[in-house]
Amino acid sequence: MKSLPYFCRGEVIQGFGRGSKELGIPTANFPDAVVDCLPADISTGIYYGWACVGNGDVYKMVMSIGWNPYYKNTKKSMETHIIHTFKEDFYGEVLSVVMVGYIRPEKNFTSLEALIAAINGDIEEAKTKLELPEHLKLKDDNFFTSAASSSSGSSTSVPTTIMNGH
Ligand SMILES: Cc1cc2nc3c(=O)[nH]c(=O)nc-3n(C[C@H](O)[C@H](O)[C@H](O)COP(=O)(O)O)c2cc1C
Repeated sequence: MKSLPYFCRGEVIQGFGRGSKELGIPTANFPDAVVDCLPADISTGIYYGWACVGNGDVYKMVMSIGWNPYYKNTKKSMETHIIHTFKEDFYGEVLSVVMVGYIRPEKNFTSLEALIAAINGDIEEAKTKLELPEHLKLKDDNFFTSAASSSSGSSTSVPTTIMNGH
């Protein structure tokens, strides 16, 4: 995929709400504006990369792009699971991500347990792959330091700009 690494950011919106409750794996959803801007060569499926909320720390992440065949969604989504335990929800904050590599296509599963096991496998794969030097260097990319640094306070309008590669 020639568009990888792919950089984008947007406000975290309310998803379908099953992430943390049913799966125990919280995911942050991007608005349609971000989903609709994905380049054509970024197919649906599971990706790994780096993510940062607001101007916070950069963590490993896994992302699912598509229609979640297990749930038969009718709307394409981009859902990021950040591999870190956050104390609170961060709806409305700006999420910046860089998608670094592809793991697998989206699949249907015969049970919720099988879906959870697959996602946990993705998380392990992401953790290992992101340790490669060429991937580790993206963690320090200035895309993250230039992110949504709304230092002047909450009255600043939330940027929903899409920024691809650089
Ligand atoms: C790493 C990862 C892999 C996923 N793989 C699949 C998959 O193969 N099939 C599927 O139907 N959904 C998959 N999902 C999507 C989950 O079903 C989805 O996150 C869940 O429905 C919660 O979404 P919600 O919080 O928007 O309700 C994956 C999600 C993540 C984070």
